[in-house]
Parts: sequence; C-alpha cells; structure tokens
Amino acid sequence: MCGIVGYTGKNDCVDLLIDGLSKLEYRGYDSAGIAVMCDGQIEVKKSKGRLADLEKKMGEEGKPHGTCGIGHTRWATHGEPSDINSHPHGNKRVSIVHNGIIENYREIKEFLIDQGYSFVSETDTETVAKLLDYYYEGNPVDAIAHVIKEIRGSYAMGILFRDFPDKVYAVRKDSPLIIGLGEDGNFIASDVPAILKYTRNYYLLEPNEIATLSVNGVDVCDIHKNPVKKEVNVADWDLDAAEKGGYEHFMLKEINEQPTAIRTTIAPRISEGMPYLEESGMTKEMLRDYNRIYIVACGTAMHAGLIGKYVIERIAGIEVTVDIASEFRYRNPIITDKDLVILISQSGETADTLAALKLAKEKGATTMSVVNVKGSSIARESDVVVYTHAGPEISVASTKAYAVQLSVMYLLAFELAYAKGAISKEKCMELTAELQKVPDKIQDILVLKERCQFIASRLINAESLLYIGRGLDYALSMEGSLKLKEISYIHSESYAAGELKHGTISLVTDDMPVIAIATQSDLFEKTLSNIKEVKARGAKVTMICREGTEDDKAVANHLVTLPNMDDIMMPMLALVPMQYIAYYTAVLKGCDVDKPRNLAKSVTVE
Ligand code: F6R
Repeated sequence: MCGIVGYTGKNDCVDLLIDGLSKLEYRGYDSAGIAVMCDGQIEVKKSKGRLADLEKKMGEEGKPHGTCGIGHTRWATHGEPSDINSHPHGNKRVSIVHNGIIENYREIKEFLIDQGYSFVSETDTETVAKLLDYYYEGNPVDAIAHVIKEIRGSYAMGILFRDFPDKVYAVRKDSPLIIGLGEDGNFIASDVPAILKYTRNYYLLEPNEIATLSVNGVDVCDIHKNPVKKEVNVADWDLDAAEKGGYEHFMLKEINEQPTAIRTTIAPRISEGMPYLEESGMTKEMLRDYNRIYIVACGTAMHAGLIGKYVIERIAGIEVTVDIASEFRYRNPIITDKDLVILISQSGETADTLAALKLAKEKGATTMSVVNVKGSSIARESDVVVYTHAGPEISVASTKAYAVQLSVMYLLAFELAYAKGAISKEKCMELTAELQKVPDKIQDILVLKERCQFIASRLINAESLLYIGRGLDYALSMEGSLKLKEISYIHSESYAAGELKHGTISLVTDDMPVIAIATQSDLFEKTLSNIKEVKARGAKVTMICREGTEDDKAVANHLVTLPNMDDIMMPMLALVPMQYIAYYTAVLKGCDVDKPRNLAKSVTVE
C-alpha cells in the first residue's frame, strides 16, 4: 500500500529512488513518481502504471539529475490512478509524497481555495502539500509542525522544500516510515527492503516526530521542536532474503522457506522440551487467569487464528472467539480486563487490526500480538509481542507468515493447556516435540510440487471451485480457498463438508473441481461420505489426506498424500499442497503471481 523512498547524499538519486521503490512493489501500486532537486528547482516526474512506465517517460522527456529526492508508488484511494493523481504533489516551493489518508482534507481544501490556492488532482495529498506551502515562512520544520496539528488521519510523508535543496524532511502517524543511515547519505523508506542494498542501520520514526535528513546526518525533533535521540536498529535480514534468490516468484521462494521460518520461530520459544513464551512477557500465571480469549485479525492471519481456536479449544478446553478485525472494531464486543485479545498480523500495520487492538486496550483487556515485522505499529502498541521470524514476506499472497503464525498458535495452545492443567507435563512435551518435527516433514513434502502442478493443470479452466473439510481441515480449507482465488482469479469458496447438503451442493455440476482436505482421523469417514456425495453429482475431486487413508482410491480423481503426524498437527503439513496448487494454477494461467490485481501487501487503510 503506497511506498515511499527518499534520499539525500553524495550520489545521484534517481536510479537509487527507482531501485528502492522496486523493492516496495510488493506493497501494491498503480502509479509512481519522483521529485528531485535539480539546479535549485524541484523537478517532478510521475506516471500512471508500473515503475517501468515512469522510467520510459523519463527516457522520453529527459531524466532529472540530482543528489536529493523523494519517490513514491501510489495505491489509489482518493482519485483514480492517473498521471495527475500520482505523487509527488505540490508546487515550485514544496513537494511531498504521502502514504495514508487525510480524513479532513475537504475542509482544508476549501480553506485553501479561499486563500487563493488552486488544485489539479483529486487527492488528499495535494491538500497537505498546499497547506505546507501556506504555513511555510522560511522554516520547514515549523511548517510541518503546523500542518500535522491541523490534519486528521494517517500519514507517512517525505517532503522537499526548494529553499533547502540538500534536505529531505519526513513525518509519520499511523503509517510506517523508517530512516536509513548510510555512509554516503541518508534515506527514508516505507520498509527495510528499500534501503537494504545501501545500509542496514535504521530507526523508526515515532508518531509526529519530524526528521530532517541531510548528507551528513539526521536530526529528529518532536512537534515542539525538542530534539529526540533515536536508537539505531540493525536489520538482520540479508539482502538475498529480500530478493528472489533464483526462484521464479517470491511466492515460490517463500513456500520453500517455510521449514526454516518455522524452526527460527519456534526454537527460541521452547525450553527443555516445553513451550516457553515468557520471553515475550506472557507468563503461565497470566495465561491461567484469563476468562476469555479473542483472536482478531484479517485475511490469512485471521485464518491462522481459526486454526488457533480449534487447537486451543481442543487441548486447553478454553473458549476462543475469532473475529475479523473490521467486524470486531464496530460490533461493540463484550471484553473485560479479565480477557486476552490476540492480534495476528504479518505486517503489523493492518489498519483494522490496529484499530481492534486499540479498542481491546480501551476496554482493559490484555493485548498480545503475533507479528512478523519488528517495531511495527501493532507490535509496539500491544502489551505482549510474540514475533514470528519468517523474514521479509514479499509476495502479496501470504504463505510462510501463515505457517509461522500457526506454529505460534500451537505453542500458545500447548502452554495454555499446561497452565490450565488440561494436559500433563508429559503430554505437553510430547506435543511440543511433535511440533519440532514439522519443519523436517514440510521439507520432505516440498517435493509434492510436481503432483500439485499436475492438479493445477486440471483447474485452470474452472470458473469456480469448492474447498471442503471438517474440523481443523475446514479451518485450513478457508486459507486454501483464499490463496487460490486471490492469485488465480478462479472463484472459490470453502465449505464445512457437513454443511454442503444444506444448500451449496446444488452448485455442484459435471466437472466442477472440489478440493477436499481429509486429514483428521476422527472425521475421515464423514468427510469421505461428503466426497462421495459431490462425486456422485459429477465433481472432480482432489483429496488431500494422510498416508494409509488413501485406500479408497475410487473416491477421488486426484490424491495428495501426506506423512502421518498427530491429528492436530496435520494442518501444518496440508498447507503446503494448498499453497502449491494455488501457485501453479496462477502460474499456468499467466497471472501476476506476486502482485495479484487490486491487492496490496499491507492494508494500512480501512
Ligand atoms: C492473503 C493475505 C492477506 C493478509 C491480510 C492481513 O494472502 O496476505 O489476507 O493476511 O491482509 O495482513 P497482515 O497479516 O499484514 O495484518
């Protein structure tokens, strides 16, 4: 969702800005632009479309040269994707790039029109640019401080002032922005991959801190102009982790990284064979005392929460409510200070999840987040954070982040069950040991890709398909269905297999693909009956099951068999064929796998 890069330093900045923006492409965008200080003037180039379109335009019109500039990839919110609506916005004196939404831009616009300003775009951002110009009386920081007192909403901004040709200014609230400290210059960026090629040293701007970047350093002050000292973080991601590393797509790379990601996530949370989440601040005593547990998240992260619910309820015997964050925040949930609210988010910046977190805190609940991006808003605002260690997830369709979220759900369930006395120490150790086997098992089943590729070749002409399952298989099928539809554009629904005959089975006609997940031994016979029902109506069934249960071969047209594990652990294996099937279906259909249409990696607006 919109990407920002800015640089001031010793080197020409245009290629550097474009390169940085290309590392943020995963966030999704529909137009791009840069503003560069050239011979004391701000020169702006912007274009609808991809970065390649911007580069083409610069090739035709002449590429600006300068050592200080800002760049942006826009994901349209106010106004359609167009050259005019693309960022940067401003005038001869000031130019800005902005990520977020300014809620009161209409009233500001009316005010500025009364002051004689005119507007060319439909964006909220142009309003902020002109408001900066209005308040600018020779001191950029004063102007920025004035503006942020007047605007409402979310923003991360990179700003150039013509009168300060070697400086980039930055400020943020509710949208991420980091400051990168390089040897030959300094950076602003929406995310770490944009600057990794140049520096690993960075820090995060806190809300309404104002940064002034120059060639030799960065000054940060608060809204009252008091200097702020920042602690520098060192990114531990290697550059290769943010690149494709020889894989055709980030998604394929990330599917293959799952064993490592799970190992790295669970290893520090297991001590002497027992789950150990205390390093995050969540003690056994706290876990024992919660009345209710809510898990709140969006999309794939919410699906991880659903698996969490099934596992926690089954082994810890505690009721868990899973909520979609955008529903939770508006449904006036009944929460007290005796409840635990768990927020799951890869990016840690999802607007609805962040709002749900704030609501839970207001109501006095303990908030615990399971987040992948260090220092992100959700991580910083929650009482307890369990970081997943998936490394950067670049593909818009989440894979390895889901796998590590599940692994944290399992550890939490085991620890909860033990803390509540629902399982013995021996059982808890047994389950933990089973979880530790998962990375190797996944490594073994990554070879299933050819089988899944073949199955995908049978799906590409489908207009619609069903994913079915029962119990944990049903919870998992929701993720399989989302993965498939978001990247292959084939309409797909997941259904509780037992619910089919209450309506949905009427959709099943000749050759309709149905993917059935049947890994749960206590429900296997029942799922098998449901598979037979759809097969009898002409469906072409792919069954994902475990070794030894595939005997009744006649029941499915295609089989994917998985190694045996404890029932509750099977979703961690079955997720792999689901991801592969989605991936190869999209590849075979020629879809833009890593950047599906209309989607953004990080959804920082409602
Ligand atoms: C789908 C996907 C999304 C995200 C959702 C929440 O593949 O990635 O459904 O899971 O937008 O994002 P985070 O986890 O960043 O809060």
